[in-house]
Amino acid sequence: MKKILALIFSALIPVLCNTAYASNTSEEGIKTEEKTMNMDGKKLVVFFSHTGENYNVGYIEKGNTHIVADMIADATGADIFEIVPEKGYPKSYNECIEIAKKELQANARPAVKGDVKIEDYDVIFIGYPQWWGEPPMCVYTFIEKHDWNGKTVIPFVTHEGSGMGGTDRKIAAECKGANTLTGKGLAIQGKVAQENQASAKKSVEKWLEGLGMKKDK
Ligand SMILES: Cc1cc2nc3c(=O)[nH]c(=O)nc-3n(C[C@H](O)[C@H](O)[C@H](O)COP(=O)(O)O)c2cc1C
Repeated sequence: MKKILALIFSALIPVLCNTAYASNTSEEGIKTEEKTMNMDGKKLVVFFSHTGENYNVGYIEKGNTHIVADMIADATGADIFEIVPEKGYPKSYNECIEIAKKELQANARPAVKGDVKIEDYDVIFIGYPQWWGEPPMCVYTFIEKHDWNGKTVIPFVTHEGSGMGGTDRKIAAECKGANTLTGKGLAIQGKVAQENQASAKKSVEKWLEGLGMKKDK
């Protein structure tokens, strides 16, 4: 099933968006990056997540990425901030796809509500759903509002077959001056996050353990 979905998304991308993405992130250089990364200090989880109609898990009140974001915050004692676009994405899946496609094609930066002082944090997890090899454009809006110099950035994603799909490299390029974990970010299938939370929690905890993270509070 996972493979079929990945194939569907892969086939749709060039048609819909005239763009392409890698289905797997490169593991190259991870060790070097890991050695220089500071995993200590004050932590923040920033995420975007869509609620409403999800093609694989029906109508959801709490987004898949939101569920994983809460798990990470709980396990690490991090503060949490939700990126909320001023003009929310439609609840209808097809309408959401339409808007997302237009935003991607225009490389748009949709306005977002509120803000958080990332200056106060050392380690920032950034989570989002995989949208055709990119984070939703509102994630870039948030990133571009801030100075990332010296921060440790850790991407995580929920998806339905594409995994991280190279989005961690895009986050790394966007968070200028930050030390961004690439090749080792967390990718959890949305359906698992939504419907098998015990399994998702295990994956989150194992991943955090691999990063040498302990609960702070
Ligand atoms: C606009 C849009 C594009 C998507 N593109 C992909 C994709 O390319 N690959 C994939 O695996 N899943 C894709 N999905 C599925 C979402 O990544 C998946 O359902 C995710 O868990 C949703 O997270 P959320 O509930 O936090 O928004 C897409 C979903 C939407 C709405």
